[in-house]
Amino acid sequence: MKGIGFGKVILFGEHFVVYGNASIASGISSHTTAELVEANEPGFKIIDNRDTAAGYKEKYAEAMAQSVKNMNDAVWHLDFDKTPVEVTLAGDLYCASGVGASAANCVAMARAVSEHFCLNLTDEQINQCGLEGDKAYAGTPSGIDNTCSTYGQPIFFRNNLEGGQNQMDLLEVGKPLHVLLVSTGITTKTSDAVRILRENKEKEPEIFAEIFNKAEELAHQGKDALATGDLELIGQLMNQNHELLKKSGVSHTYLDCLVEFIKKHGAVGAKMTGGGRGGYMVALFPDAETQEKAALACEYEKFKFMKATIG
Ligand code: MEV
Repeated sequence: MKGIGFGKVILFGEHFVVYGNASIASGISSHTTAELVEANEPGFKIIDNRDTAAGYKEKYAEAMAQSVKNMNDAVWHLDFDKTPVEVTLAGDLYCASGVGASAANCVAMARAVSEHFCLNLTDEQINQCGLEGDKAYAGTPSGIDNTCSTYGQPIFFRNNLEGGQNQMDLLEVGKPLHVLLVSTGITTKTSDAVRILRENKEKEPEIFAEIFNKAEELAHQGKDALATGDLELIGQLMNQNHELLKKSGVSHTYLDCLVEFIKKHGAVGAKMTGGGRGGYMVALFPDAETQEKAALACEYEKFKFMKATIG
């Protein structure tokens, strides 16, 4: 049995989404697969063949075991000592912080478990598994990563802080977005980045109130620009979003350098994406040809990157 979970890219509103702000994100075609077979030894054994940033697997070994427990306690209710399984993770999603790798592996495992044990989980239940699993990695995830991993589509997302249904509107994309996701190679736990922003916010509530208002505005302007396919405007809004994240203390010098580098290679806009303080940068290009040229420049610099088209 094989399950799949998509990687994701956040175009607008990471971090602010944790507090109920609007955000825009999408699943990407790069994904993680989970292949599940019966095993002889009791338990839930994981063989991790994913391509990852240095130190990534070690950093998240405990979280991965906890994520399986979370999903089992919340949704599967299985006894893996009586019905042992072995799961092999693979796929073309290069795993580093920022690209939804933890949610993707939870969703992929949940899909494989559902098929193998004939649980017939709906997408909504798979999404719930993704959220419960991701709590082991991200602390108090907003739900944006698992939602992108499950549905794989561009969405306007708002985390319902009251605990009810999150807002998830499928987005109209007027023109396909040609993007590059470039890894800094630096692995930072999302939960640490979220904590740092919270501490900064508590120290300077007035400044952060302004930042949050501006971020909300950018997400709405981004939604309209996506619908009309105004790539230049989307790029400018992404640049502004990056500045807000920098002010919030969750960027990184290397991310800021990557943003400048990629703009010199034709990007109309660029920003950190995901938790930040390392992880990935996302850049938008006016067309596939410019994206391709920038990809060559990244290759020349030996950067790890992924190409994606949204919409
Ligand atoms: C991580 O991909 C996105 C954050 O906004 C955390 C979250 O939404 O759970 C930083």
